[in-house]
Amino acid sequence: MSSEPAILPRHVAIIMDGNGRWAKKRHLPREAGHVAGVAAVRETVRAAVDIGLENLTLFAFSSENWKRPKAEVGALMGLFRRYFNSDMNELVEKGCRIRIIGHRGRVAGDIHGMIEDAEKRSAGNKGLNLTFAFDYGAQEEIASAARELARAARDGRLDPETITPELFASRLFTSALPEPDLIIRTSGERRLSNFLLWQSAYAELLFLDVLWPDFGRAQLAKALETFAQRERRFGALNAEAVA
Ligand code: IPE
Ligand code: IPE
Ligand code: MG
Repeated sequence: MSSEPAILPRHVAIIMDGNGRWAKKRHLPREAGHVAGVAAVRETVRAAVDIGLENLTLFAFSSENWKRPKAEVGALMGLFRRYFNSDMNELVEKGCRIRIIGHRGRVAGDIHGMIEDAEKRSAGNKGLNLTFAFDYGAQEEIASAARELARAARDGRLDPETITPELFASRLFTSALPEPDLIIRTSGERRLSNFLLWQSAYAELLFLDVLWPDFGRAQLAKALETFAQRERRFGALNAEAVA
């Protein structure tokens, strides 16, 4: 372990992958992997609060995950419901500000209501910004931002020449959050699967071979250590190279 004071990322985003393979290894149904995945979410969020992380974004369900068998989608929706019901009070009490990024229009009405309630109840909180990407797809998010700007230009409310990356980013679901500094994907897959494509421009990517249900406090701490050792340049040169 390094004795240097750790450089904490302001924003950590996690692609929580590998629940199905975790279950398969144990000869359990995929749903059991998702149940174990919820426990990993709980532990990871508690750890993030204890560490004093500012922003944590968790990819919980992608817009493409609707393509899965109906029974699995139903099980995932049920787990999301249960998680919100059981954990929301604790999260709000711990000062978390909850946000959900995603389509919204396609999820069941009661889930939609729970999302809005959680966001409302936690709106004044100043602790961890905890964002769930739920029915989220980055290409759809980018297209919808483009649509909104195009509409404004058509109606004469916006000069297209004034469209900058900053203006564009202000139309994304993540407009209230800084860009992720660190994106972790568990399960050994090395892809982003349509997660935060715009926002990840200069994110450090960390692909871990651990399956999501096996992720928790220790793995988060290790990931933060790895991040602290990365050298970020944002296209410029570091001080040493300039000197
Ligand atoms: C991640 O685990 C959970 C969701 C995508 C909702 P998976 O269900 O994708 O697990 P694997 O990739 O099949 O192991
Ligand atoms: C990405 O995992 C989505 C979530 C973790 C919620 P997937 O399992 O859906 O990604 P692919 O299909 O392997 O790319
Ligand atoms: Mg997967």
